[in-house]
This record gives sequence, structure tokens and C-alpha cells, in this order.
Amino acid sequence: MALRRWMTALVLLFGLAIGAALPASAQIAFKPRPDNGLAKTPPMGWNSWNKFGCNIDEATIRAQADALVSTGLKDAGYTYVVVDDCWQVARDADGNIQADPKRFPGGMKALADYVHSRGLKFGIYSDPGNGTCQDRPGSRGHEYQDAATYARWGVDYLKYDWCNAEDLAARPAYATMSDALRATGRPIVFSICEWGIHQPWKWGKEAGGNLWRTTFDIWDHWSGRGNHGLWLGVTDILDKQNGLESFAGPGHWNDPDMLEVGNGGMTDTEYRAHFALWAMLAAPLVAGNDLASMSPQTLAILTAKDIIAIDQDPLGKQGRRLVKRPGEEVWVKPLSGGATAVLVLNRSGETRKVSAALADLGLSADTAYQARDAWAQKPLAPVKGAITADLPSHASIIWVLTPKA
Ligand code: GLA
Repeated sequence: MALRRWMTALVLLFGLAIGAALPASAQIAFKPRPDNGLAKTPPMGWNSWNKFGCNIDEATIRAQADALVSTGLKDAGYTYVVVDDCWQVARDADGNIQADPKRFPGGMKALADYVHSRGLKFGIYSDPGNGTCQDRPGSRGHEYQDAATYARWGVDYLKYDWCNAEDLAARPAYATMSDALRATGRPIVFSICEWGIHQPWKWGKEAGGNLWRTTFDIWDHWSGRGNHGLWLGVTDILDKQNGLESFAGPGHWNDPDMLEVGNGGMTDTEYRAHFALWAMLAAPLVAGNDLASMSPQTLAILTAKDIIAIDQDPLGKQGRRLVKRPGEEVWVKPLSGGATAVLVLNRSGETRKVSAALADLGLSADTAYQARDAWAQKPLAPVKGAITADLPSHASIIWVLTPKA
């Protein structure tokens, strides 16, 4: 008996030693998690981080849920109200995660109930490390306990970050939380926020993710980096999305981060391009502004019906960049029913006339296409051979082309 125990210990130690020496991918045969049936189109909603950071409380979140309904955003498709970092403060003696009693005195269950009573879904945030990015308690070693707590509260969406997790292997760390969420029996969208470090587009779906961040954090700028190069402007993020299109599809999406539309650091022209580009990328559309005090222009951008329809197209294809010249580019996204969305962007600092041959966009040079302006929601003159747009600096057009019958 003693010998068998000793042998077992030896085999285990040997296994651990070999395991440590092998790359994470080779350690154990990894079982891909089956599709959880959620997020068949890119998730849409609101998240607290971009505008409020840690300055959140239950009144703020309730006000955002109210605004989603009263402004028409809910009717436009925005569903998830996600409370990001800083809602949690400690664990109790039994290890149960505790919401900040000063900021969330009613508790998370009551808040989830409120969000549900508005016809919306409720999301929350955690981290696979011991601490979150704001040093609140993470879920390490508490994955099943936390998932069960979330399910009890009525959580419908979990954003799972990557701070303080450097000694973990990413794929199994995310798969563990995915398994824990599934074990609750409650449908919970799983948002992997690993910042693209270990190319999550290659394993995020197998790890049970419905979406995965492809970069570090967005900041409210058209271009340029902040926070020692970690934060990226809209166009910096955009450049990192091209080439990832084959990894996206119904149930599993590349996530170029939440929207900054309406947060004040860009012009409305730039916010329109930001929103339209995210739609071309089949990106999750998660508003990150204060919905209770937004301008009519911001609301018009966030509720642009035909732009949202391009994002939410059931074919689930992510667009790609087919023309790139200094200061100008054209993105193309196949849509269901044989249509194609085409976005022309003037990235330069001056007004330009931008043209592209349809043959360069994967379209037929000889076919006449019915054209529709997706911002104006109006038909245009039929297009043949090429498209041309006069665009002020940082402006874009987005047209839907359908072969004429
Ligand atoms: C990371 C994430 C952000 C946000 C913060 C919260 O930076 O990438 O989206 O969740 O953490 O601390």
C-alpha cells in the first residue's frame, strides 16, 4: 500500500516536471468546449468601465438601465448591462464574494432583478488571478463558487480579465471558468478579456468563450497610444483586426474593445467612423458612455439602424480591409442574401475624393449594384465599376451593395 502511494507520488512528480518543461499547449490534451448556444450575433449592451471606471454604484447602474430603455437603445438591440471592475471588495469567511456594501447596499441580486425588470440582461466582471486589475478579489481557486454565486444573482454575462494571472496558462484558466459557468445550468455569455496576448482568437472558442478581446484597452482617441503604450486609439486597434476575420462567427467573436462613442475625446465624424468600423468588424457593440446625459448626435450614432444591421447580420462574417493606400482604406463585409457592405475611410488630415474599383473589393466589374447609404438609410444611384466618395478628414461612408436583379 505504502509502496503504491510512493509510486503514485513519483509518477505525479515526474508528470509535473515534464509538464513544466513543455509548452502549455502540449501539456494535456485539451478538450474543446462545445458551443453554449449564446451570442449568435455580436453581443450588444453597455459597460461601466470606459466612462465611470471605479466610480460606480447601484444608482448609476440603474440609471443606465433606465436610459437604455427610455432612449430607445434597448429597442435598437442593446441588451446587456455590464458592471465592470470595482463592484467587489472582499470574501466572507466561507469564501463568498462580497459586493461593496457602501456602493451596492442592495446587493447584486437586487440590481440584477432591477435590470431584468427593465427587460434587459445583467453582466458582471471578474479575473482569473487572485486580484482584478483594480486589486479587488479575483476568482482564482473560487471559480465554481463564484459562478454559482453569479447564477444565484441572475448574472447573464461574465467579462473575465487577465490581471495578476501571469503564472497561469491562459486557455485552461479561461476553460475552467467556462466550465464553472456551464455547471450552473444558467446561460451566461462568457467574455474573455485577455488583451490578445496569447492570440485568444486561436483558442478562445475552444476555451468556451463567446468573445475575446484582441488588444489592450481602447482610449478615447482617434489614434495614438496612452498609458506607456498600453492604451490604443481607434485606428491603432483597427490595424490589429485585419487578418483575424476567419476566427469570428456566430457564437464566437473578436472583440476590439468597447465603444468610446460620446465620451468627448473625438469629433462626431470620428465617432461615426468608430461605430461604423466596429459594425464592419462584426464587433460586440458595447456602449461605454453616460447614457443618461448623451447628446442627440451620440444617440443617433448608437441607434443607427442600418449600421447596427450590418454588425448584427446573421451570416456573422467579420469584414476585412481590401484597399489600403496612404490615408485611405476600404473595408468589405459580406452580408446574408448576397449583399456586401463597403466602408470607405479617409484617415488623412485633409478632405479627399476616395475611389475604389469594385474588382478590388471582390465584386464584379460588370454588374450594376443597387446601392444604399447605411447612415442616411436611403437608396443611392446604382453603382457599376467603381465607387467614389468625397470625404472630409476622418470621415467614412458605408454603403450596402446588392447585385441588381
Ligand atoms: C482591464 C480591462 C478593461 C477594464 C479594466 C478594469 O484593463 O482590459 O476593459 O475591465 O481592466 O480594471
